[in-house]
Amino acid sequence: MRKTLAFLLLLGGGVALTQMPGTQAPILRAAWAQSASLDAATQPAEEPSVLPAGDGQEEVFYACTACHSTAIIRRSRFSRERWDELMTWMTEVHGMNPLEGEERTLIVSYLAQHFGPAQAPARGRNPFLN
Ligand code: HEC
Repeated sequence: MRKTLAFLLLLGGGVALTQMPGTQAPILRAAWAQSASLDAATQPAEEPSVLPAGDGQEEVFYACTACHSTAIIRRSRFSRERWDELMTWMTEVHGMNPLEGEERTLIVSYLAQHFGPAQAPARGRNPFLN
């Protein structure tokens, strides 16, 4: 009885292994689909309201989410000077359209006000409410 069971297990394992190459793609696709829906379930939808309300909320949202989500912004705490430098860095290193004049002032002010060093540390916030 034991031997039969062991044999069946071996056989089952063998069958599973030989089927692997053919089934790999669907398995991966299923895993991706699952993680995508998991993201959708745990992440707030990306729309301007994921950022704190205030002057510049929409400008920041639309200028910044062309390349990455707002999560990278929301977890940052920088001084006004550092945010300003970051805007230059984003343009020079990552190809963001240069931010100038009133738009730059609006965006940097918004970032400094809502994501400044004085704000609660990002780590202390509930990621599901943040
Ligand atoms: C042209 C693409 C692009 C745009 C537009 C853009 N970023 Fe970025 N940003 C990047 C890339 C690329 C990184 C680097 C990501 C990494 O290192 O994982 C980055 C990183 C960052 C970081 C992390 C920096 C650090 O040192 O921790 C912050 C904060 C940030 N961006 C804020 C912004 C803000 C605010 C805006 C809008 C004003 C913006 N980004 C617009 C491409 C962009």
